[in-house]
Amino acid sequence: MTTTKTRAADVRIEGLALELDEPGVPLGEAQRLVRDVSFTVAAGEMVGLAGESGSGKSLTASAISGLMPVGVRRAEGTITIGGEICPPHKRHPDVAMIFQNPMTSLNPSIRIGDQIAEAVRLRHKGTSRSDARRRAVEILEQVEVSNAPARAKQYPFEFSGGMRQRAMIGIAIARDPAVLVADEPTTALDVTVQRGVMDLIDRLRAELGLAVLLISHDLGVMNERCDRLLVMYSGELVEVGPTGQLLATPAHPYVDGLLRCIPDRAMAAGKLEPLAGQVPPPNRWIPGCRFAERCASATAECEAAPIRFTAFAPEREVRCIHPQAASLGAGRSVR
Ligand SMILES: Nc1ncnc2c1ncn2[C@@H]1O[C@H](COP(=O)(O)OP(=O)(O)OP(=O)(O)O)[C@@H](O)[C@H]1O
Ligand SMILES: [Mg+2]
Repeated sequence: MTTTKTRAADVRIEGLALELDEPGVPLGEAQRLVRDVSFTVAAGEMVGLAGESGSGKSLTASAISGLMPVGVRRAEGTITIGGEICPPHKRHPDVAMIFQNPMTSLNPSIRIGDQIAEAVRLRHKGTSRSDARRRAVEILEQVEVSNAPARAKQYPFEFSGGMRQRAMIGIAIARDPAVLVADEPTTALDVTVQRGVMDLIDRLRAELGLAVLLISHDLGVMNERCDRLLVMYSGELVEVGPTGQLLATPAHPYVDGLLRCIPDRAMAAGKLEPLAGQVPPPNRWIPGCRFAERCASATAECEAAPIRFTAFAPEREVRCIHPQAASLGAGRSVR
């Protein structure tokens, strides 16, 4: 059998808005959990998506795969993969997802090899059981599980955490995806195996030309792995840019504040400054800047009306009318 081949393709998200869809509650702005999200991930590129808990990262990811949680619907926006429009609320065959806890996605009572073989047969209808089993062993080798023929016959409880995540990545690539969405893929893993799993995702990105969206709270990992970084706050993208530039000279006061409370960076600057206040819940979101109540630069203008996401330097965009001064020369700074 041949090794996995993907059809390299960009994923493009334009004007995405997601909202609660509850019986008896009228749809509209008040129900919006995510709004005005636009970005692309090119084939062979890894893009990071960061932001505080509840900012809408996983919902955005689920919209890309088409697997929306019950009670949430895509209200606006288009998603295209390789130029092809993805209908809302329909599982997109070109998108594979991996999550934080592989145990919740693996079936505990089915052998690992059979779970991968099932994914192969779902994608390639008509593949015989024996061919799919052979392919599953190849895939386990591809995700660097040693002694793959014997491992294929084992159950998830016989795998370590890192090995289970490799098996999940195996199931993901058995779908021959163009896009891989990795939602905190290493958060639940021991720090010693995190690097190996990230190396594997990176290698598959390069070899298969995958467009990878990496969701993480670990800005260090993003800095090491991602060409570009997207930052969300309260359901909106607040800043996008090349990772090194964005982290060196953040433009949005939220991103600046976030970086000031990372101990390693703050120690280097001699000061740890926790971000004051809390993220407002969706029912307290205002039409204007949702960070305004925590922002030292905020003026009345910030809260009055939606702030546009605006380019201020090559490849850099921010949703702020008072961007940080250091970022304004950012087009000149390089990684
Ligand atoms: N199925 C759902 N029904 C109702 N609200 C939801 C649902 N899923 C998510 N939400 C709400 O949407 C918002 C965004 O959630 P999401 O899971 O995308 O956040 P996140 O950025 O992935 O956070 P974390 O870093 O904690 O994973 C939150 O306010 C959350 O409570
Ligand atoms: Mg999440």
